[in-house]
Amino acid sequence: MNKVTKLLAAALTVGILLGAYGVRAAEQPKYTTKEVMKAIYKGKESLHHKIADGGGSPEDFAKLVEYLPSLQLNDPPVGDKKEWQDRVKKLLAAAKDLKAGKPGALDAYKGAANCKECHTAHKKPEEKH
Ligand code: HEC
Repeated sequence: MNKVTKLLAAALTVGILLGAYGVRAAEQPKYTTKEVMKAIYKGKESLHHKIADGGGSPEDFAKLVEYLPSLQLNDPPVGDKKEWQDRVKKLLAAAKDLKAGKPGALDAYKGAANCKECHTAHKKPEEKH
């Protein structure tokens, strides 16, 4: 290899490494599942309850859409990963519809945000709420 080829090869390698890192970084979840639960779902005064009761504001819907994508990138603590992703996908789709003001979105969201069903399938039993 002459000097130019070596340089090119080195540049290419760096490019590939950076590219691979970039893809990984883009897939890093912003929040853990626990953080999402605490921010959106936990307790009687939760954002979730406000939204489910029909009192959600555009800011509330935006917060949902901000937090929920992380669930898609997190592994479920237990249970089937595909099933988890299907659940979360429905939840996120309904949240996006809420944000977009689509009719019927609230019912779809409430159906998708089934605490018990999801916890039974994906939450460690000793932590059941
Ligand atoms: C799409 C699935 C899913 C839905 C829907 C869901 N949860 Fe969770 N929730 C989880 C998982 C998984 C955990 C366990 C997270 C962990 O241990 O890392 C969890 C944990 C929690 C925790 C414990 C957080 C902590 O600090 O350890 C609370 C509280 C909670 N959920 C409340 C709710 C409520 C209330 C609802 C419904 C209004 C709900 N969740 C809906 C999946 C879900």
